[in-house]
Amino acid sequence: MENKKQLYIPQHVGIIMDGNGRWAKKRGLPRSVGHTYGAKTFKSITRYISRCGVKYLTLYAFSTENWKRPLEEVNALMKIFRQYLIDSLTDFREDDIKVNFIGDRSAFAKDIIDLINETEEVAKDRKGMQLNIAMNYGGRDEILTAVKALCTEARDSGLDISSITEEDISRRLYTSGQPDPDLIIRTGGEHRLSNFMLYQAAYAEFYSTDTLWPDFDNDEFDKAVLEFNKRSRRFGGV
Ligand code: IPE
Ligand code: IPE
Ligand code: MG
Repeated sequence: MENKKQLYIPQHVGIIMDGNGRWAKKRGLPRSVGHTYGAKTFKSITRYISRCGVKYLTLYAFSTENWKRPLEEVNALMKIFRQYLIDSLTDFREDDIKVNFIGDRSAFAKDIIDLINETEEVAKDRKGMQLNIAMNYGGRDEILTAVKALCTEARDSGLDISSITEEDISRRLYTSGQPDPDLIIRTGGEHRLSNFMLYQAAYAEFYSTDTLWPDFDNDEFDKAVLEFNKRSRRFGGV
């Protein structure tokens, strides 16, 4: 990135990786081919973003609503996940990237759950960027899980309901201990969060690009960071 030194690099970036299906359709290919190319972008951009100095990167790979897709597409996605989980075991070692999964992993097939656990385990002591891969992730589901945990503590452990703080909720989210995202990028041209980081996104800067995810590259990321640097973040102040 040119003149990167003068730029403020966001600490936590979230990306809604959208547009794989349309990318494939434009080329007369099945949607699953778009997902295969999207997985390649996922790998290369993760490395680049880590080298830019971002400390936390959250990539939205599969939502709690994506199970609604035709079985054929869901199966193709699961096959791609298997491969990118296997690749993730070694891919990010060189860059010391710590891989972590957010979402309800219990819904996946046993071999995928095992791979998720193994990937987290091999990366657990790494000191570089923390990569959160959001799989079967939904912001509402995450908030619901936190609410249930707090209710259980109130019932069983004497947690005083009137003393519950926003911080208590944050600590029960999948991203517990991590800063909120500063910048959320969505590829594929839509201007919505689609259930991504609903609680954490309160003051994130939103950047949408028409570029479809398989075409998203380092220059596109640089553009998003440049735009982010032009924003005035007031957090409700003046
Ligand atoms: C994003 O691309 C990947 C997933 C949601 C798994 P899409 O598959 O949503 O692609 P479009 O939006 O249909 O083009
Ligand atoms: C959001 O994309 C989910 C992911 C990128 C994983 P979708 O394609 O599912 O979102 P909608 O349906 O356009 O809102
Ligand atoms: Mg989409």
